Amino acid sequence: MRITIFGSGYVGLVTGACMAEMGNNVVCYDIDEAKINRLNAGELPIYEPGLEAYVARNMESGRLVFTTDVKKAVDHGLFQFVAVGTPPDEDGSADLKHVLAVARSIGEHMDEYRIVVNKSTVPVGTADKVGAEIRKALKARGKSVEFDVVANPEFLKEGAAISDFMKPDRIIIGTDNPRTAELLKSLYEPFNRNHDRVICMDVRSAELTKYAANAMLATKISFINELANLAEHFGADIEKVRLGIGSDPRIGYHFIYPGAGYGGSCFPKDVRALAKSAADSGYDAVLLNAVEDVNVRQKLRIFEKLLDHYDGELKGKTIALWGLSFKPRTDDMREAPSRVIMEALWDAGASVRAYDPEAMEETARIYPDQKGLELCETAYGALEGCDALVIITEWQEFRSPDLDLLKTTLTEPVIFDGRNLYDPGLLHTMGITYYAIGRGNADADSNLPYGRRKMDNAETE
Ligand SMILES: NC(=O)c1ccc[n+]([C@@H]2O[C@H](COP(=O)([O-])OP(=O)(O)OC[C@H]3O[C@@H](n4cnc5c(N)ncnc54)[C@H](O)[C@@H]3O)[C@@H](O)[C@H]2O)c1
Repeated sequence: MRITIFGSGYVGLVTGACMAEMGNNVVCYDIDEAKINRLNAGELPIYEPGLEAYVARNMESGRLVFTTDVKKAVDHGLFQFVAVGTPPDEDGSADLKHVLAVARSIGEHMDEYRIVVNKSTVPVGTADKVGAEIRKALKARGKSVEFDVVANPEFLKEGAAISDFMKPDRIIIGTDNPRTAELLKSLYEPFNRNHDRVICMDVRSAELTKYAANAMLATKISFINELANLAEHFGADIEKVRLGIGSDPRIGYHFIYPGAGYGGSCFPKDVRALAKSAADSGYDAVLLNAVEDVNVRQKLRIFEKLLDHYDGELKGKTIALWGLSFKPRTDDMREAPSRVIMEALWDAGASVRAYDPEAMEETARIYPDQKGLELCETAYGALEGCDALVIITEWQEFRSPDLDLLKTTLTEPVIFDGRNLYDPGLLHTMGITYYAIGRGNADADSNLPYGRRKMDNAETE
């Protein structure tokens, strides 16, 4: 089938590459000329495991083409996928300017029937606005061309985007037109081989489903983080509590890892956007606002622990930081907890020596010429001359470090672990001062059978 994708970011690029991999002819369009030039030169603008091979293979076969020619893009696909950003506006609502700009472009250039498939995360009612924008552009040309607008939200996770797209848990198709639903179903048929993953519904329910999913996941994280803070007050170990509650199948073990707060391009903005939509419709979304408040506070927990340890005086300290991306296996730094912590450290007069396997380039782009920031080539290199180590992102290479080397390289053996990666008992016997999340005074001389956190590699935030 012939597919056009507007937006060549995390979602657009993965959608394009995976659709081409299944044999479709895909044109990816983006307004960012530099991005398209890089892609045409065989360079990936983002880090996503496995994506490079997919893009290269399908470009070579001619099934995946990148362009900045909007007419060519609209002419190409029966399916016009919208995968552009919906960043937060100043008031927290989703800014639809990119989505509506795409709608305008489609209306300005289409000459025959098109199915506009919205993959961007958008508030309920956006499909109607997209339809109105297309009609307006058509009218300005004196044209009348049939089209449909479908809500088809995307659920892929950065870091596992290819496997999420190729083997989705569900494919939500929101349309009131049965013929369009059938066309979408046949497009997704190859991703559906083992059992039917398509769930068809009306457009508004499909739009809300995406926000509901992200809000639920964010709620789980804020819930366990709140409990982690309580565990510290009560002298309990949240990792034990997590296992204790996870054993109830109604709760489950998934996605209840306490940490440094959720970040990324989705949860924070989507929770805020849903709460704002609710407020605009006259409903006070008490729970959603609390989920956001808990998260804002949680991003500073590690900084507060640093302040406590150094009696409120961080001026002149040098802190090593492992992990900059908002989660492992991505270079995405949007709303990353590392940014909040680094900025708080700089404000307090401390310096940071940071290391991340993939997000250093992005960090340098966000903080050009930042005083008090040194990006280091290796994890152990980052420790040199530092007073303490802070761990923010649970990259696998941080899970089993050389603790002897770590201890001797730091000026003082102190670790602030925002992801509960280590066994507090072991670190204590090694003489390393260890602060974790929700593990009471993990440094105390205690006989508690602490132990390492067991976690599923495939499912961090
Ligand atoms: N990143 C994720 O993990 C994820 C997962 C599910 C859903 N989403 C949603 O998908 C959407 C896209 O997210 P993303 O992370 O891929 O964003 P992104 O910022 O990585 O990419 C968006 C791209 O759209 C381009 N663009 C902007 N205006 C355009 C226009 N008028 N025409 C063509 N291209 C245009 C930008 O240049 C950019 O390359 C958002 O609504 C997001 O909430 C993201």
